[in-house]
Order: sequence, then structure tokens, then C-alpha cells
Amino acid sequence: MNPSDDVIEVRNLVYHVGGRAILDGISFSVCRGCIFGVMGMSGTGKSTLLKCLMGLLRAESGEVIVDGDIVTGVAEQELARVRSKMGMCFQYAALFDSLTVAENVAFGLKRHTHLPPDEISLRVADALAHVRLRDIDNLMPAQLSGGMRKRVGIARALVIEPMIMLYDEPSAGLDPITAAVLDDLILSLAREHGMTCVIVTHEVRELFSLCDSVMMLHEGRIVALDTPDRLKRSPDPIVEQFVEGRPIGPIAV
Ligand SMILES: Nc1ncnc2c1ncn2[C@@H]1O[C@H](COP(=O)(O)OP(=O)(O)OP(=O)(O)O)[C@@H](O)[C@H]1O
Ligand SMILES: [Mg+2]
Repeated sequence: MNPSDDVIEVRNLVYHVGGRAILDGISFSVCRGCIFGVMGMSGTGKSTLLKCLMGLLRAESGEVIVDGDIVTGVAEQELARVRSKMGMCFQYAALFDSLTVAENVAFGLKRHTHLPPDEISLRVADALAHVRLRDIDNLMPAQLSGGMRKRVGIARALVIEPMIMLYDEPSAGLDPITAAVLDDLILSLAREHGMTCVIVTHEVRELFSLCDSVMMLHEGRIVALDTPDRLKRSPDPIVEQFVEGRPIGPIAV
């Protein structure tokens, strides 16, 4: 594959928390328009990795390059341009509690564009419709169910029309039907609009049905990076235990 087809490149990324290497020399790349999955036990650093991709956390060494722009080691003010290429759907939605739903979704547009208010309203309505939310514009986050908050978080990320979406546990806390609607949305954004996606989830079935390739992190390292088909048949006992959800095996809980 032509290297320019890689829209995200991560080289030797290292990140410590409390003296422990959460990411211990991670290298991978994600090709344009691909859906790339990340799986691993709770606490293995999946959310940390997504935050490093956005430049929200600063890796101690290694490089993250997004669409040709370097994220690691650059000053905060230089990150705005590369961040505008990425939409992040946070694990716990991370809405602004004092803003209405519509204000939350409009936040990035108001901050980073000079669009007229009418255009902003249209885009907000469109983003909310994408995640099947209607007539909740004036509600406050505290008035929403967990699943609704999650979907508002996704709408807020989508509204800036990013070339890359980073989803941290997109379907956690959603009922199975809404989760399936969301999976269809992720798939159509990638397949019809060429949006590159990185999805972190514990839902192995969801990862395997959506992703072109899936990486498994364990103890700071990549233990597997392959297509879902090959991972399903992986003889690696760590991968096998995780994929099959077995309580007994090399991964001790
Ligand atoms: N702000 C922080 N302060 C201290 N430790 C942190 C902080 N953020 C993350 N950690 C630690 O870093 C490790 C990785 O956390 P991270 O949230 O990236 O894991 P994760 O793989 O996303 O887990 P989960 O599947 O439960 O969401 C954990 O051991 C966590 O305790
Ligand atoms: Mg997490």
C-alpha cells in the first residue's frame, strides 16, 4: 500500500502513568477510509491512546502523524488545525452541563468557524438527526438518559464534518437497537463519505462486524493487529481468551 494512504501513523508511542508504561512503544497506521478497531482489557490504555491521537494527552516519546500533520511535540496553539480534522466521541460523553443540547452540539462550530447562526442551526439539526435525536435541542444534559448523552456527544463530534472520527465505547450504555443504528451510521460514514474511524470498544462482536482491522493492546504492547477473520482464528492464547471472553487463561483478572 502507498504510505500516503495512511491517514494516521503512530510510531513508538510511549506514555506512562504513575511509573507504569501504559503505552510502551506502540506503532501502527490506519489507512484512509478504514474502520480500525482497538480492543483490550479495562485499563490497558485504549482511551489514553485516543487522547494521544488528538493531542489531548502528551506522549513522552514517539510520534503521532495525522493526515501529514505532526501531533506529538507541537505547541498547543498549533494543534487546532490538526484537531479540526478529528471528531472525538468521548467514553463518558463529556458534555458541558451548563449548555443545552443544541449549544453543546454547536460548540465546535461556533468556536472554530465563522458560519452564520442559521447555518449552524441547520448543521446541528442534521447532526442530531444522524444519531436519531429530535426535539431535544433545548434540554440540558442532566435531563437526558445515558444513551441520549452518548448520542449527543457523537453529534457534537460529527457536526464539524471531520475526516477522522475517534469513538471511545460508542455503544456502551445503549440499547441493542440504538447500538445497531449507530453501527450502521459508523459504517455509512466510512463507506459512503470515506471517513476514517478508530473505534475502541469491549464489544468484540461489534468490532468484528464493523472493522477492517483490529488491534489488541495488552500490558502496554500490541499483541495482535489483523483482520477480524484472522483474529477469530488466532491461536494466540491471549487473543483467544479475550475474543471468547473466557475467565481462565493467560490474562489474569
Ligand atoms: N488521569 C489519570 N490519572 C491517573 N491514572 C490514570 C489517568 N488516566 C488513566 N489512568 C490510568 O491509565 C490506565 C489506562 O487508562 P485508560 O482509561 O486509557 O484505559 P482503558 O483501556 O480505556 O480502560 P476502559 O476499558 O476501562 O475504558 C489505567 O490504569 C488508569 O488507571
Ligand atoms: Mg477507556
